[in-house]
Amino acid sequence: MCGIVGFVGKQDAAPILLDGLRRLEYRGYDSAGIAVCGEEGIAIAKSRGRLQVLSDATRGGADLPGVMGIGHTRWATHGEPNDINAHPHLSRSGKIAVVHNGIIENYMELKISLLEKGYTFRSETDTEVVAQLLDYYYEGCGDFFEALNCTLNAVDGAYALGIICADYPDRIYATRKDAPLLLGYGEGENYLASDVTALIRYTRDIVYMDDGEVAVLSDKGIRLYDRMLRPMEKEHHHIDWEIDAAEKGGYAHFMLKEIMEQPRAVREATAARIQDGRIVLSDLSMTPEQIRAIRKLYIVACGSSYHVGMVGKYNLERLLRRNVEVCLASEFRYSDPIVGEGDLVIIISQSGETLDTMAALREAKKRGARILSIVNVVGSSIARESHDVLYTWAGPEIAVATTKAYSTQMAVLNLLGLYFGDVMGTVDYETYENAVRGILALPEQMETILAKKDRIREMAKLCVDHDDVFFIGRNLDYALSLEGSLKLKEISYIHSEAYASGELKHGTISLIEDGTPVIALGTYAPLFDKAMSNVVEVQARGAKLIALTTDSHAAAMAERVDAVISIPDTEAMLLPQLGVVPLQMLAYYIALERGCDIDKPRNLAKSVTVE
Ligand code: AGP
Repeated sequence: MCGIVGFVGKQDAAPILLDGLRRLEYRGYDSAGIAVCGEEGIAIAKSRGRLQVLSDATRGGADLPGVMGIGHTRWATHGEPNDINAHPHLSRSGKIAVVHNGIIENYMELKISLLEKGYTFRSETDTEVVAQLLDYYYEGCGDFFEALNCTLNAVDGAYALGIICADYPDRIYATRKDAPLLLGYGEGENYLASDVTALIRYTRDIVYMDDGEVAVLSDKGIRLYDRMLRPMEKEHHHIDWEIDAAEKGGYAHFMLKEIMEQPRAVREATAARIQDGRIVLSDLSMTPEQIRAIRKLYIVACGSSYHVGMVGKYNLERLLRRNVEVCLASEFRYSDPIVGEGDLVIIISQSGETLDTMAALREAKKRGARILSIVNVVGSSIARESHDVLYTWAGPEIAVATTKAYSTQMAVLNLLGLYFGDVMGTVDYETYENAVRGILALPEQMETILAKKDRIREMAKLCVDHDDVFFIGRNLDYALSLEGSLKLKEISYIHSEAYASGELKHGTISLIEDGTPVIALGTYAPLFDKAMSNVVEVQARGAKLIALTTDSHAAAMAERVDAVISIPDTEAMLLPQLGVVPLQMLAYYIALERGCDIDKPRNLAKSVTVE
C-alpha cells in the first residue's frame, strides 16, 4: 500500500526521499512523487509508474533543491494511477502539500462543500480534499496547527499524513489514524516513514505513532502531541536488524532470498522457545488458569496469514480437543461476531498493519475477548493493541508474496498449540515429545527441500503455458493447498483454485480436461490412499499431475503421476511446514519462466492498509 517518507535536516532532501521510497517499493505502488520546500516555495515532481521514472525525471532529485520534503508511493484507490492523481497534492494557494496513506471516507461530502466555497480540484483523489481543506482553514485562522486540528476534526476514515507548508519551511507535520506511521530521530535531521525499512540506513532510533497523535518535525527535534493536542513524550525503540536483511544479498529476487532464509527463520522462531525439550513461551503473559479457562478459540487473519489459521485449525483442534473457528478478518469484523469474555482471539499478521485484521481485533477486544497476536513487525499497530504478542522473528519480509512469514507464523502457532495442550492436559507426553523433536529438526529438513530447486524448476515447466491450475488435498493438505494456490496466482497471474479433494466430484471436476495441470497434495499419511484415489479420478479426465508427498510415499506416487516432489517424513502436524516450501518454489519458478515482476506483482501491496 502507499508509502510515505519525510525528511528535514541540513542536506538536500530529494535524494533521501527517493532512497526512502525505493525501500518502500515492496509495499506495492503504481505512481510516486516528492515535494521539497526550497527557497522559492514548494516544488513537486510526480509520475506514474516505477520510481526510476521519477528519479530520472528529477536527475536523482537534483532538480528539487531544499532541505525539507515529503515523498510518496501511491497504490491507487480513488482515481486511476496517473501523474495527476499521484501524490503529493498541492493546495489552491500552492503553499501546502500533502501525502496520504489510507482512505478519507467522507471525501465526497467535503469536496462538495469546498466546491461550493469556490475551490477547484485537479485530481480524482480523496487526498486532495485534505490539502484544500487545510488551505481553507489556514486562510481563515492564519494558524497552521489550528488549521490541521480543524481538518482532522472534519475528516473520517483512515490516514497517515505527511504535510508541509511553505510558510513553515523548517517543519513537517505528521499524523495518523488506522494507518502506520513512524518517526526517525537523527543528528540534526529527522525522518518520517510508513515503515522502518525506509529509515534503517539513516537511523535506528524510532518512535511509533499512535492514532490521533500529531508530530512536528524539524532539524532541531520532533515535537509530539497526543490526541487532545497536549505535548507528550513517547518510548523510543531501537531497531537492531542489519541493513543486509532488507537487501537482496545476491539473489535475483527478494522472494527467492526469503524462501531460502526459511530454515534460519523457523529456527529463530522456535529454538529459543524450546528449553530442555519443553516449550517456554516467556513472552506470553497468560497464566495456566487463564489458558484452562479459555471458552472458545478463534483465529482471525487475511490472505496467507488466514491460511496459517486453516492449518492451525486442524492442528489445534487435534491438540486441544476443542472447536477452533477460523475467520477472514474482513468478514469477521462485520459479522456481529459471537465473541466475548472468556474467548481467546488469535490474530495473525505479518505486517501487523492489515486494516481488516486490525478492525477485527478491535471488534473482538471491544466485546471483551482476550487478544493474542502472532506478528512479525515489532511495534506494529496489531502488536501494540494486543493483550499478548508472540513475535515470529522472521526479519524484514520484502517480497509481496509472503514465504518466511508464513512459515514462522505456522511454527509459532504450532508451539502455542502444544503449549496450550500441555497446560490443558489434552496432549499426551509422547505426542508432545515427538512434536518438539520434529520442530527442532525442521530447519535441516527444509534445507534438503531447498536443495531440490533444480528439480522443482524443471517441474515448473509443466504449468508455465497454462491458464488454469488446480490444487487438491485433504485435511492438512487441503489447508496447505490454499497457500500453494495463492502463491501461484499472486505472482504468476495463472488462475488457480484450491479444492478439498473430496469436493471435486461435486462440481469442479467438470473443469478438468485434457492436459489441465493438477497439483495433488498427498503428504498426510492417514489419508494417502484417499489422495491416490483422487489422483486417479482426475487423471481419468486427462489431468496432467504434479504430486507432493513424503519420501516414504514417493515411489508409490511416482507410479501414477507425471512428476513428483517429496518432502522428508515428519510428525503429521508439521507436514505443512515442509510442504509449503516446494509449493513456494514452484510458484516462483513458474512466475520466473513467465517473466513476471515477482517481488512486486501487479495490483498487490505488501501491507494492506485499506479495506
Ligand atoms: C500473501 O502472499 C499476501 N502477501 C497476503 O495474502 C497477506 O498474507 C495478507 O495481505 C495479510 O497480510 P498480513 O499478514 O501482513 O496481515
